Amino acid sequence: MSRNRLVAGNWKMHGSRAANQALLDALLAGIAGTNAVECAVCAPFPYLQQVSERLKGSALAWGAQNVSEHEQGAFTGEVSAAMLREFGCRYVIVGHSERRQLYGESDARVAAKFAAAQRAGLTPILCVGETLEAREAGRTEEVVARQLDAVAIDPKAPAVLAYEPVWAIGTGRNASPEQAQAVHAFLRKKLPGEMRVVYGGSVKAQNAAALFAMPDIDGGLIGGASLLAQDFIGIVKAAAAAAASERVGT
Ligand code: 13P
Repeated sequence: MSRNRLVAGNWKMHGSRAANQALLDALLAGIAGTNAVECAVCAPFPYLQQVSERLKGSALAWGAQNVSEHEQGAFTGEVSAAMLREFGCRYVIVGHSERRQLYGESDARVAAKFAAAQRAGLTPILCVGETLEAREAGRTEEVVARQLDAVAIDPKAPAVLAYEPVWAIGTGRNASPEQAQAVHAFLRKKLPGEMRVVYGGSVKAQNAAALFAMPDIDGGLIGGASLLAQDFIGIVKAAAAAAASERVGT
């Protein structure tokens, strides 16, 4: 696999200046020596300045959790991709299931956000995933295909795809490596280029190695465990070990 692994933290609506500082300090110390893995944290908007200043020149990239589909204008409460880009933002999560479910984001709006992010030079992390009800009805592939097909993917523009089954998010019940691999392989076949496909949903230091050993799982999008430095570092190390064992094996 020539794709660089990515481990990204989604802090969601958590943090404070003091907590962020302690977390970033611990992460920078803990990820030293794991260069084979790209790491990032996606923080709430008010903290992006703090995160960007602390991470300047470091191996830890950063991103936002949402972006407007519009360039500028009368959109109270929204943040544009150009604003994020202006102070060095690299990634932005789009289409997270919490935004789809709690804020009514449609496939079309997610597609517009994806395009706006790329126009500004950001790397969107596009989330797709089925509910438990859809999985139990045997509709997993249909749902993730619909979510992916709504988005125009240019193989030359940087982007990341995240498979996040809704039933695995924040539940402590991760998809098994085999379940995740099956969906990743399905998604990969639909992609026009060499895009990374990462898994999210109750990834912990204890289950990361088995997930990252799968051939189509290129890393993780981490919620709860990204708020605990040692847990996140453990996940990054699992990704580094998977990358190293692959190099030995090939
Ligand atoms: P958890 O890791 O807390 O299950 O959250 C996953 C997620 O939603 C990442 O975007």
